[in-house]
Amino acid sequence: MSPLGEAGGSVDAGGEEESGPVTSPDSGALERAAEAALRPRRLAEFVGQQVVRDQLSLVLEAATARGRPPEHVLLSGPPGLGKTTLAMIIAGEIGAALRITSGPAIQHAGDLAAILSSLEEGEVLFIDEVHRLARPAEEMLYIAMEDFRVDVVVGKGVGATSIPLELPPFTVVGATTRAGLLPAPLRDRFGFVGHLDYYRASELHEVVTRSALRLDVPLDPDAAAEIAERSRGTPRIANRLLRRVRDWAQVRGSGRLDLAAARAALEVYEVDPRGLDRLDRGVLAALCTRFAGGPVGLSTLAVSVGEETETVETMVEPYLVREGFLTRTPRGRIATPMAWEHLGLAPPEPAAGTTPPLGRF
Ligand SMILES: Nc1ncnc2c1ncn2[C@@H]1O[C@H](COP(=O)(O)OP(=O)(O)OP(=O)(O)O)[C@@H](O)[C@H]1O
Ligand SMILES: [Mg+2]
Repeated sequence: MSPLGEAGGSVDAGGEEESGPVTSPDSGALERAAEAALRPRRLAEFVGQQVVRDQLSLVLEAATARGRPPEHVLLSGPPGLGKTTLAMIIAGEIGAALRITSGPAIQHAGDLAAILSSLEEGEVLFIDEVHRLARPAEEMLYIAMEDFRVDVVVGKGVGATSIPLELPPFTVVGATTRAGLLPAPLRDRFGFVGHLDYYRASELHEVVTRSALRLDVPLDPDAAAEIAERSRGTPRIANRLLRRVRDWAQVRGSGRLDLAAARAALEVYEVDPRGLDRLDRGVLAALCTRFAGGPVGLSTLAVSVGEETETVETMVEPYLVREGFLTRTPRGRIATPMAWEHLGLAPPEPAAGTTPPLGRF
């Protein structure tokens, strides 16, 4: 361990505080302001996702040419890949006002009715986590999206009547991390569905380079590459690591975000060259050293690192599986040869299976 390893989180030079691990794909409340400052505002500034970008730009241009609001748009994909950013870009590109709400914020169908009935012509209604709408609100939304109508219920009990209210044309932009949970009738009302996928390192390189310009900090290209490599394919993580490197450079370094600063800061935050954090490595190490590489059940594995099963399943495993460090089998989790190699351990001999593997150091 380098002496920097002891520094813990103390290098955060009074920047925004963030909850959760630095490699979490989710953002904390305090982080949102920092993110808002780094959001691209136009489609042309939105890095990567070439296919979705091209398709969306056609949809928007065609609608603008017709002088009509574009079709409803659904954006799906894992956290931190740019769904909210794209929703804002859509409104910006067509010069429309943007209303923002979310599935969990709409408790009752009446809440949605209030929002819908106050929409003005051409407005964009962004519904985040649209898969979390309650059923009655969901049904109201189908009708509004298809027929531009909302049935307002007046009165209570047997005397209640429903009065149909015509709505001006508008565009719903829905975002979801769980497209599979969306009921088919709702999914079918979206004329355009864009699926965002993890970014390549070269794209994240561009993201952090742009962000450094916005933050007005000098970032060397090799430092940008280092950050990009460790960001798990996720712009949110890339921007966060960039801010941590900036903190390090300001407090411990020369102010310049060079390769040495990037490496030192990422070491302080225990993000390794493949983007694995302490818990990821802990899980892999337990799997390799205590369970001889598996197979071992998820709950046993979680207990052995002192974590909840759910934490390991949702925060740790997806990235380890995606990167090929771990596989899931019906008999349990298994470490791949790459996991052993990454930890600097010798994998067990395929046929032997009797002697547990020994570490090289
Ligand atoms: N393609 C991109 N180009 C540049 N920056 C991006 C891009 N995608 C995302 N970002 C940046 O990453 C951060 C997170 O993006 P955003 O909030 O849009 O993610 P999200 O998909 O809505 O996540 P969640 O599912 O948690 O709501 C923002 O600060 C944004 O600026
Ligand atoms: Mg979002």
